Amino acid sequence: MSAQRVPRARRYLVCEPRFFDVSYAINPWMSTDTPVDRDLARSQWQHLVDTYLGLGHTVDHVGPEPGLPDMVFAANSALVLDGRVFGSRFHALERRGEEAAYETWFKAAGFTLQQSVAVCEGEGDLVPVGGFVLAGTGFRTTTEAHREVQEYFGTPVVSLTLVDPYFYHLDTALFVLDDGAGGGPANVCYYPEAFSPGSREVLERLFPDAVTATREDAVAWGLNSVSDGVHVFVAPQAAALAARLAAHGYVPVPVDLSEFHKAGGGIKCCTQEIRA
Ligand code: ARG
Repeated sequence: MSAQRVPRARRYLVCEPRFFDVSYAINPWMSTDTPVDRDLARSQWQHLVDTYLGLGHTVDHVGPEPGLPDMVFAANSALVLDGRVFGSRFHALERRGEEAAYETWFKAAGFTLQQSVAVCEGEGDLVPVGGFVLAGTGFRTTTEAHREVQEYFGTPVVSLTLVDPYFYHLDTALFVLDDGAGGGPANVCYYPEAFSPGSREVLERLFPDAVTATREDAVAWGLNSVSDGVHVFVAPQAAALAARLAAHGYVPVPVDLSEFHKAGGGIKCCTQEIRA
């Protein structure tokens, strides 16, 4: 079965971490006492970009802006499906300046964009897979935004409740192994305890063959991974999860973004997928 899997070339939007810092604390991973090594952050991030390019993916860049230290987390800016953009409305006031910066980029790149009215943090909480959008709520994105997303894209939205503040965005607790768009079965990898009991049952029903992760995998940022259907760009700190993915026929590609973990972000957070 794994022999039939083929990687699909993706288009990713990223934002260079020129102004990256931890200058406020809006999730349990962040502490303003923790110094950030910006040079190391820059080289880790560059390695991620080079890894994507090396495997045949396209990478677009939005310009970073001073005073927006979290702008590097491009995944939070929007959800892009069928070439249409649903722009974010950030929960934290400190991040609201990012909305216009990303809106400007998407419009200049020729996309139609609608801004969310309710609090919504893009692909941080909105994960398209198998013809649905899995939508996290509990800490950031609201159920009102889930309804807006369904109405805008006409794609069924499945609301999932997150219950652990360390896994405050859906993309810290779940990632897509295969989105199903290439014809293969859609599948995900997730940490069940990050979800309410009912949401856990929903995931079990939708993805009976999912790869499940432990708390160790999750705190090592293993669930904040990106997959092209074959390669899984994964935190090297999550070695046990990477081994399990390899046993399922995926090819783990370790990329260390340890500096970004200090802000509560990882590989997926730095990667906005543009589905045209
Ligand atoms: N410091 C950022 C925040 O708390 C991190 C965002 C991480 N992004 C993600 N997609 N999980 O908003």
